[in-house]
Amino acid sequence: MSETLPILYVPSPILRAKAKPVGPGDEDRVRALSAKMLATMYAAPGIGLAAPQVGELLRLVVIDIGPKEAPAPIVLVNPELVAQSRELAVREEGCLSLPNIFGDVQRPHQVKVRYQALDGSRREMEGEGLMSACLQHEIDHLNGVLFVDYLSALRRNMLLRRLAKELKMKAE
Ligand code: NI
Repeated sequence: MSETLPILYVPSPILRAKAKPVGPGDEDRVRALSAKMLATMYAAPGIGLAAPQVGELLRLVVIDIGPKEAPAPIVLVNPELVAQSRELAVREEGCLSLPNIFGDVQRPHQVKVRYQALDGSRREMEGEGLMSACLQHEIDHLNGVLFVDYLSALRRNMLLRRLAKELKMKAE
């Protein structure tokens, strides 16, 4: 099992920055980082984690929406949303960078994503329902977007105030 990494919380400015594409020559670094990210995600526990959440501004995402007894990790290097359904779905989302904060987010029900595997090979996958929401949520992280950005300003500010208070209490 790989070591785990500390997860950044809002309002870390890294969570609002745009991540850089993984380039040729980054393979070893990205392989090691993705193993640590998976370990961090499973330990949290969570179903998705983007590299900026562990302080690395790289376009790298790990996802596993499978049951605990049958892990099905997916590592997506340079993922890109290439198609989305017109049909929308509302789902309650949370985020490891906003602990104990949840909100209903409306997103396309189905998406198609292009990415590279760890060996650099080009891949494509389609997701619907939970997988669709997860793919969009994690790709958003690479662009500095958080799920609370889809909520009304009133609701977002209320949740962020509550989070700031909780994190302060935890730190004291
Ligand atoms: Ni998140």
